[in-house]
Amino acid sequence: MKAFIKTYGCQMNKYDSEIIAGILKENGFKLTEKTNDADIILVNTCSVREHAEKRMLGYLTVISNLKKENPDLIIGVVGCAALRLNKKILKKIPGVNFVLGPDKYKLLPGLLTDLSCFDETCYTVNNKEKYEDIIPVRNNGISEWVAIMRGCNNFCSYCVVPYVRGRERSRSVKSIITEIKELVAQGIKEVTLLGQNVNSYNDGSFDFPDLLRRVSEIDGLKRIRFATSHPKDLSTKLLEVIKERKNICNHIHLPVQSGSGKILKKMNRKYTPEEYISLVEKAKSMIEGISITTDIITGFPGETEEDHQATMELIRKLEFDSSFVFRYSPREGTKAFHYKDDVPENVKIRRLEEINSLQQSISEKINKKLIGKTCEVLIEGTSRRSKKEMKGKLDSGKGVVIKENDKKVKAGDIIKVRIFDANSKTLFGKINGRKNVDI
Ligand code: 5AD
Ligand code: SF4
Repeated sequence: MKAFIKTYGCQMNKYDSEIIAGILKENGFKLTEKTNDADIILVNTCSVREHAEKRMLGYLTVISNLKKENPDLIIGVVGCAALRLNKKILKKIPGVNFVLGPDKYKLLPGLLTDLSCFDETCYTVNNKEKYEDIIPVRNNGISEWVAIMRGCNNFCSYCVVPYVRGRERSRSVKSIITEIKELVAQGIKEVTLLGQNVNSYNDGSFDFPDLLRRVSEIDGLKRIRFATSHPKDLSTKLLEVIKERKNICNHIHLPVQSGSGKILKKMNRKYTPEEYISLVEKAKSMIEGISITTDIITGFPGETEEDHQATMELIRKLEFDSSFVFRYSPREGTKAFHYKDDVPENVKIRRLEEINSLQQSISEKINKKLIGKTCEVLIEGTSRRSKKEMKGKLDSGKGVVIKENDKKVKAGDIIKVRIFDANSKTLFGKINGRKNVDI
């Protein structure tokens, strides 16, 4: 039987789809890229905002029509929204055969062989599941994700993740190192260590800085990234390891969520704006050129114009390299669901646009400072826009378009590139002398 997997949501969800593919492959199922060629369609879903769930429900309505031509088609909804909405999905979209939560993917082979195995245990959390024994089916690029921990214990008042993904649990250092060594042997040059709260990693013997150091010592691994970090777990020890080890990228994605102390408290973020500011300033003073990116929520319950201005002020002060801004979306089951969603939608949107436009001018200013500089770029391949161009990334994570295509340069090489132009999103460069290929 052939399965098609559609994925919504974050990097962790994309990684989980690779885990699902691994489980299916191990059990004799095949994968397909086309829905009309599939016997099974699995939709891996996100529930972090209502919008993500609505999009997924719209997609399910469309694909359930495929059952008219192929009545034997099996449609399974998996992931965070499958656990959260469970029977509501089955009721709303009758074409769906089963729902399965993020900790229950090992049930898939049995379920696909006999749909009558479906019961309520398919949509409960399993705080022990780490999928350490599963080999993910990856996309064979030069860069891959490796989940090092799952779940979250923070209970930020707006967030559904602790309810759908359960408590924090870390994989053993040994299993992570073995997996990454295998990836490097297959030609992978970059890994991104993933976790809902990656820097609170602890396997009982090693903490996150210890793990990072061990990973950075793997021969042939050119770059290491990690996401997402919580400010409360950003230790000096972690900054020191990033500074010391050249192959650990100088980039931290560090969601601030708001610049208002009152709102941060209501969000249960466990830091004040002042503490966040001094943390970022410490990171910037310890690690020259470190890139800090963030997430911000606009229109959290009770957010006044003054609170919004505090967020704008924090952004002006810290000058993030980039930020992802979201309108607050009430999630049933969370603490904030009981607060009145009192910021009108048009105000949420206006605040979001103000933040985005401020951020755009800051990103452009930061990126333009790189014009004339020579930077190391990890080549990802030929640019999608033109065969005459290549694309790659700086250590900071910024995308670079190289306005030439040198046959001697291959994906996975790190080369020196001279930046000649930049906008808020992309840098443009030329190769800086042939002898610099794969420094
Ligand atoms: N509404 C809006 N944004 C949210 N996020 C998490 N929960 C919500 C919510 N209920 C945002 C946070 C988080 C990012 C992944 O999604 O900014 O960092
Ligand atoms: Fe990822 Fe959170 Fe969305 Fe689940 S709910 S897919 S963990 S962002």
